[in-house]
Amino acid sequence: MKLSQFGCLLAQDSPIVQLMEDLGEALSRNPDLLFLGGGNPAQVPAAQACFHQHLQAIAEDPQATASMLGVYPAPQGGDSTLRAVAGFLSRECGWPVDEANIALVNGSQLAFFILFNLLAGAGEDGANRRVLLPLVPEYLGYGAQGLGQNFFVARKPLLQTATAQRFKYALDLDALNVDADIGALCVSRPTNPSGNLLTHAEMDQLLAKARGAGVPLLVDLAYGSPFPGIVYQTNDNPWRSGAVHVLSLSKLGLPGVRTAIVVADEELIRCVARANTIMSLANGNLGPALLERLISSGDLARLGQSVLPDFYRARRDYLVDLLDRALQGLPYRIHEPQGAFFVWLWLEQLPGGAQGLYEKLKKQGVLLMAGEPFFFGWEKTWSHARECLRLTYCQPPEALERAVNIIASEVRALYGR
Ligand SMILES: Cc1ncc(COP(=O)(O)O)c(C=O)c1O
Repeated sequence: MKLSQFGCLLAQDSPIVQLMEDLGEALSRNPDLLFLGGGNPAQVPAAQACFHQHLQAIAEDPQATASMLGVYPAPQGGDSTLRAVAGFLSRECGWPVDEANIALVNGSQLAFFILFNLLAGAGEDGANRRVLLPLVPEYLGYGAQGLGQNFFVARKPLLQTATAQRFKYALDLDALNVDADIGALCVSRPTNPSGNLLTHAEMDQLLAKARGAGVPLLVDLAYGSPFPGIVYQTNDNPWRSGAVHVLSLSKLGLPGVRTAIVVADEELIRCVARANTIMSLANGNLGPALLERLISSGDLARLGQSVLPDFYRARRDYLVDLLDRALQGLPYRIHEPQGAFFVWLWLEQLPGGAQGLYEKLKKQGVLLMAGEPFFFGWEKTWSHARECLRLTYCQPPEALERAVNIIASEVRALYGR
């Protein structure tokens, strides 16, 4: 079979393909695996009860069921959903938006594929533009999405090590020149994988740099505020012209409905809607139908303000405490876990590196993520990139405890302590 260039780019093996295969293995075929790997959200009983109740209300209403199952929605999203989302974002969050600023897409993975390839790659003017990641590590799922070579260019973060067992990444503003070949900047907030929450000052600086270069700043709010709100400090993300905010229902607990919301200036929204029509024809209706009910009932605000942050904060504290106890005396640091549902663990000068540890643990039934694929768009060598691992805390406490015991004994063996 002869694949096109497009075919080779999309059919290649890549870290996100590996991650989703691990996820499928753990969640469908081999549930005994201790799965601290991919980004599947936790089972949160209060959220599940709420989704069930809204789904039941739709199922009991023949009119609602017919329009959900039997109608193609408009390319940008159904009018009533766009109205509901615009109302929520302007009323609850104070974002200066209306329906023309919003497009629905089948999941934020697809939203980023569309956005990246609208804004970077080979231009009509002959220029070849790239996406700038102002700091890595960044979400590895972007890595294979660019339809072009060297699609991403990334900057190394500053490393802050205020306390013995913790660290934090910060933006290196001095290194953040936005060259003429940049088509967009992109950050996730909070960041997958590190749990870092870029400060408001950092976000202001990024937007100023993007505006100065005349390119959009893409902000991935997959874990952020206003929903799912998996952020452990007061936080908001006011949308401003020149920025593109991408929200998703997945980490709210609904990855199966494949629904994301793009908020941007009108001109870009029109482009997203057209590209989405060409790629998907239309969005699924289940996510938008649930979303409208979650908004009108007040449940969306409630889940994002208290239910989900409270649940994940307790899990985070549990896992961090387990790790602090199990790794005592070893050269480890945990990134300040400010949001998302990951612990980003740095094992300094780990013999065999994080990939070696990943493979050893997989053989023992523990799946986590080695850190290096999160450092992409990056040509320089940095030993730190090979010393980090990502652990999710979505599994029940007893699974976390068993996994940490196995991880700690492997790590101790590697360090010879
Ligand atoms: C930072 C980030 N962005 C985007 C996505 C894609 O999510 P979805 O396509 O389910 O909305 C994920 C999934 O794990 C993610 O972690």
